[in-house]
Amino acid sequence: MAANPSDLLARAIDADRQWDRLMRMGAIGMVEQTGVDRACLTADDRTARRLLIGWAEAAGAGVSVDAAGNLWLRREGMQPDAAPVLTGSHMDTQPRGGRFDGIWGVIAGLEVLSALHALDLRTARPIEVVAWTNEEGGRFAPGCMGSMAWSGHTPLERFAGVRDEAGISFGEALAEQLALESDLPRRALGGRPHGYVEAHIEQGPLLEAAAQQVGVVTGIQGSRWFTVTLQGASAHAGTAPLSLRRDAVQDMLRAIAALNQLTHDPDDVLRFTVGRITVSPNTSNSVAERVTFSIDLRHPDASVLRARGDAIAETVRAAVTTTAATVTEVFHAMPIRFDEAVIDAVEQAAAAEGVSHRRMPSGAFHDAQFVAGICPSGMLFVPCRDGISHNVAEYASPGHLAAGTRVLARTLLALAAG
Ligand code: GLV
Ligand code: MN
Ligand code: MN
Repeated sequence: MAANPSDLLARAIDADRQWDRLMRMGAIGMVEQTGVDRACLTADDRTARRLLIGWAEAAGAGVSVDAAGNLWLRREGMQPDAAPVLTGSHMDTQPRGGRFDGIWGVIAGLEVLSALHALDLRTARPIEVVAWTNEEGGRFAPGCMGSMAWSGHTPLERFAGVRDEAGISFGEALAEQLALESDLPRRALGGRPHGYVEAHIEQGPLLEAAAQQVGVVTGIQGSRWFTVTLQGASAHAGTAPLSLRRDAVQDMLRAIAALNQLTHDPDDVLRFTVGRITVSPNTSNSVAERVTFSIDLRHPDASVLRARGDAIAETVRAAVTTTAATVTEVFHAMPIRFDEAVIDAVEQAAAAEGVSHRRMPSGAFHDAQFVAGICPSGMLFVPCRDGISHNVAEYASPGHLAAGTRVLARTLLALAAG
């Protein structure tokens, strides 16, 4: 019996080519042999994008960029005017990130385009692969700027003034990148795809522990980010009596202790992280004049996320004793449930591929959280070793990644059929 197109496509997924591309991407911004530091809108980011563009063009894809710097690779369908099926993820990394978070979703999408090209297989709908700008939020906070701007969740202009540690604004860095990529056709910001499926490493331990190959993602928990600034006064460490100080570091400790109480969850579902602290003037023998720290708060239940998040500003103000506290919310992504038809499509693709799979929610946020407001969306996960991510030790095996890409290929083919 002749193989059906889904089996043909799955067989044409080239595990070695995909791994080789991932390793070549991982060499751009490499840290400590296995890690990557490739912030968005940097020279390394542009080098990675050019490499991707070369591979995409060789696979017959059209390349374009939008006003948010999102990079688009398109394989035309038999119905060129039909709404495309979209896949992709991001190419930026955490400052000490891994070789798989984000980039695999882009390379997996490209692998599907490459396999379709090699087979000369044409889907009814176009298929597009997108690399979203600044998903990580490491250089410019918050993350997901590209998908938030594309989906209309937040106007692009709202991000222009966000500055990195060197004082460069997102607007300036984006303008520079768009100028350096002015040879690429520009496309409109926004759209209404037929559906979106994002492939990603799990970034947690569940699939590996259960010895399962694919996670069929049912939704994403909510996240809120805050920036807290405590303004005190600098003073001489040797002479200023403690009773007269307005020490921003001491108040930060009080604030974080109070926040730990506010966010305490005996069930260990709520996530509370202070991951970035900036102290000024940051010397050993001066009392800290100003501290800025980040808060990352996450929970799958919108009411819990709302209640605890809304109490943060008051908790900080009540805890500090000598400094003036300012609390600003910089990111707000409510929990979402993915579209049932897309969840089913991923599940059926995993079954057709014959890989073990389970339904699961995502603890990490992803661009899919914002795309889901525009079109039916879903995700699939593959295991990563020891659940480690946002770490140079992050690792996913070539075999798991190839199986995930075969499931992605089957899912995209099904969605692009009609
Ligand atoms: C994404 O990188 C996240 O922090 O969940
Ligand atoms: Mn990611
Ligand atoms: Mn990440």
